[in-house]
This record gives sequence, structure tokens and C-alpha cells, in this order.
Amino acid sequence: MDAVGAVSESPSQLAVQGRFLRACRREPVDATPIWLMRQAGRYMPEYRTLREKYGILDLVKTPELACAVTMQPIVAFDVDAAIIFADILPPLEGMGLQLEFVRGEGPVIRNPIRTVADIDALRPPPPEAALGFTLEAIRLARRELDARRVPLIGFAGAPFTLACYAIEGGPSRHLVRVKQLMMNEPAAWDRLMTKLSTVAGEFLVAQARAGAQALQIFDSWCGELAPRDYRHRVLPHVTRTVEIARTAGVPIILFGTGTAGMLTHLNTAGADVIGVDWRVDISDAWRQIGSDTAIQGNLDPVALLADWDETRARAKAILDQVGNRPGHIFNLGHGVLPETPVDQVRRLVDFVHEASKR
Ligand code: CP3
Repeated sequence: MDAVGAVSESPSQLAVQGRFLRACRREPVDATPIWLMRQAGRYMPEYRTLREKYGILDLVKTPELACAVTMQPIVAFDVDAAIIFADILPPLEGMGLQLEFVRGEGPVIRNPIRTVADIDALRPPPPEAALGFTLEAIRLARRELDARRVPLIGFAGAPFTLACYAIEGGPSRHLVRVKQLMMNEPAAWDRLMTKLSTVAGEFLVAQARAGAQALQIFDSWCGELAPRDYRHRVLPHVTRTVEIARTAGVPIILFGTGTAGMLTHLNTAGADVIGVDWRVDISDAWRQIGSDTAIQGNLDPVALLADWDETRARAKAILDQVGNRPGHIFNLGHGVLPETPVDQVRRLVDFVHEASKR
């Protein structure tokens, strides 16, 4: 499938509607596209209203609700892409792990991986069987998004970040258990990472078949690794996820945080776009990954909590560093924070479009 061609628009419409997909391929655009990680979420009153009635997993597992939440930021802002409302962790449930979201605590795995036997007991089912709710949400969202000419992003967790949750059972400061397994049991580690990379890759392909027009891989924890460990113990597995996902024929974005010291490694995984956080200058990041890859980022999410003049100056500094080079997708360096004022998001989206007009 041709990601831009699949939309089949007249050239003038493509200039606006295809901004995001064109930038993924480093093609010229009329203005820099922008979308925000976690653009649907607690900072939006519409979302909080739904959350009073439903748990996060209820929203994710009910296609009509997941579609409705996906559309909330599309209705509220002029963002250039939607991201399907889902989470990176439900694929672990399909493999036999018990996932819960505990209020105020975040995700918890009740039966985390603790032994080599636990790894060998993981059974990855086909995505249609375990994650049909997200595939159906994608089909529903595409109908609404096509009417608004906004493309849809599907996503999955990268194998390392999935391993962190599967082994630690929740967020963890030092990832002691994960790193112990990686260092002490390399063969079992490889078997676990092979299973996770396959599950993530196949889920991504299924999302593209259901209608996702780009795919993002979230490696939120990979920056905790020494670059050497990333390269030898993790990169081959992310590369497998990318290779599987590539068969869908849509652009692939590989996002990680804390990756300033390993961007050249990330870039060899074969993604079309590398997502970077604010801990690196975007011009420096782009120099490291080279001009054959597009870049996404990288405003500090806290900048949306500053006075608008300050927010604007920081967004402008990013645009100035990039200098209208094709292949930049504006985003935050990580997800929108729950404390973010809705007006600041609207101003940022409009400012990026205006200030980057070609
Ligand atoms: O970006 C979007 O708008 C799409 C939806 C989306 C969610 N999770 C919904 C969600 C996406 C892309 C994710 C990815 C995700 N989930 C990641 C990778 C990105 C990142 O933030 O690092 C991770 C690590 C998770 C796991 C996860 N889910 C955690 C750690 C938490 C709790 C922490 C938190 O922010 O509350 C969640 C819950 C979650 N997933 C929320 C949302 C909107 C919070 C919502 C709520 O309680 O209503």
C-alpha cells in the first residue's frame, strides 16, 4: 500500500491533508505538520468526563469509546494526525500476563516474569484474537478521520519497553531485574525479546491492515541502557519489529527517550522517522541520524505549562534549528502532561503551522 497515494486526493488537498505523511517521507510540505504524543488524555475535559464513567482499559477495549477518545483532540485542535486511543501494554495480556491499571499508581502486571520458565510459558496469539478491539477501533476511526482528511497513526511498545513492564511488573527506577536478566541470562533474554518483538511487529502490521496510515514504536525506557547494551542486546530485536512492520508499506516512526547517546544505533533499525526528546538539540540529533531519515520532536512537555511567550519562543527555536528542511514532524519530546492547559495546546498547534508556512 502506498501511504500517501492511498489517500488519493487532488494535489492541492494533498498539500494540507498529506502534510504528516509527506513529512514522514521527507517530501516538501506547505507547513510543518504537528501532532502530540498523548494528545488524547487527562488534560482534556472531554476525556476526564469519560474517565469518570470508564476505566482506562474499558476505554481501550470498547471500540466505539476508543474511537470517540481518538477524535477528541482532532475536533478540538488543528493537529495533522490522529493516534489511535490504545495502550502499549494490552499485547502483554494476550501473552498470558495479567494487566491492571491502579488509580494513582499506573499499570501493574500481577504475575510479572521472574524465571526463565516464565519466559518459555509466554504464548503470543495472533493479533486479531487478542487485540481485535484496537483493530476495530482503527476501522471506526478511519471512517470519521477520512471525512476530516486527517491520517491515523497506529502504535506498539518496543520490545525493550514491553520487557521492562513484563519483568518489573510496573514502572521501575533502575530496571534492576530487567538488566539482571539481560546481563546474566543472555539466551533467555534473547528468547523473551524475540517473542516481544514478534508480537509488536505483527500487531503493527494488523493495525496497518485495519487502516493505520503510519506506525509508531514507543521505546520509552531504552535511554536507561548503556549504548553498548542497546546496540548488542536490544537493537537486533527493535530491528526485527521494524522489519516485520515494514511489510505493511506505511511509514514507521521509532521513538525513544534519553537516546542522545545512541541515535546512530536507533537509526540502523530501519525506521523512516526517529522521534527524539528534548534532552538533545534537534539539529544535533538530525546530524547524528543523517539526512536519509525524518525526525519528530522535540519540545519539552513542561514548556506547555510556561507563559505563552516562553512556550512560543521555545517552539520557534526548534523550527529555527530545523530551518524548513523537509522531514520534520513537530511533536513534544514525550506525552502531554495532565496539568497542561488546553489553550496552550491550541496555541502551539496554530503557531507551528503559521510560523513554518513555506
Ligand atoms: O497518545 C495518545 O493520545 C494515544 C494513547 C496512548 C496511551 N498510552 C493512552 C493512555 C499512548 C500512545 C500510550 C502509550 C504508552 N502507554 C506508553 C509509551 C509512551 C509513554 O508515555 O512513555 C507507555 C509507557 C504506556 C504505559 C502506561 N499507560 C502508563 C505508564 C500509564 C500510566 C501513567 C500515566 O500517564 O497515567 C498508562 C495509562 C494511560 N495510557 C493513560 C493514557 C491517556 C493515562 C490515562 C488515564 O488514567 O486515564
